[in-house]
Amino acid sequence: MTGLRSRPGCEGSRTEHFGRPGEAIPGKAGGLLTGRKGFFMTTISPSLLAADFSRLDRELQRITDGGAEWLHLDVMDGVFVPNISFGIPVVKSIRKCSPLHFDLHLMIQDPMPYLKPFADAGADTISFHPECGCDAEAVIDAIHALGKRAGVAICPSTPAESLQPLLHKLELVMAMSVEPGFGGQKFMDCCLPKLRWLREAAPSLDLSVDGGINAETGRLCREAGANVLVAGSYVFGAEDAAAAIRSLR
Ligand code: DX5
Ligand code: ZN
Repeated sequence: MTGLRSRPGCEGSRTEHFGRPGEAIPGKAGGLLTGRKGFFMTTISPSLLAADFSRLDRELQRITDGGAEWLHLDVMDGVFVPNISFGIPVVKSIRKCSPLHFDLHLMIQDPMPYLKPFADAGADTISFHPECGCDAEAVIDAIHALGKRAGVAICPSTPAESLQPLLHKLELVMAMSVEPGFGGQKFMDCCLPKLRWLREAAPSLDLSVDGGINAETGRLCREAGANVLVAGSYVFGAEDAAAAIRSLR
């Protein structure tokens, strides 16, 4: 099985998003939600934070050869989260050597001024945290005006229901299964009911889960409705990245 089997009661709402074998679903840039009728394909988005930064070209090759579709890019400002990672120049540099869909995760206090620089640097989906206190609708509109897909990420303590007014405007919701700020943390299963709620509320949304994902926690998240799995340590820390990626589907 390569994806999430539709459950009784959800089938009707999901069927319109299922494709014929190998068929891409219109309007879903990045090749997501493709696959056999009755199945969601799982998109794997390895988180660069766990890569060997001294060998980025080799690390990118490893996950691309291993079958990853997306690359998750964690941008941290030391204000919204107690850590600093990397920024625009790194995204711009690796854009030159990667064909993957760039899944940008902004963990920053003030996203608005940085949307255009990151869009120009090559981001494809731009996700931000509404908990930063920004005007979320305005940020989503600004991302769309740049021609990019818009996502929101929510911390473990943020209820999924708080996103209800935004769902119709979004291409992606990312449920955090760890506190944002660091890789290598333990999976928090409070994300699972949120994923179930979000999948019911927005059947065609890309639903991503981020933090502590491995073969076992990934399976739980797929069963709860996630179709995008972000995995840092599990994929980049593996000797055989292709096998790790396969085990997540
Ligand atoms: C945490 C980041 C995650 C992290 C995931 O703040 O948003 O994307 O890199 O790393 P693992 O898979 O190691 O938990
Ligand atoms: Zn992330």
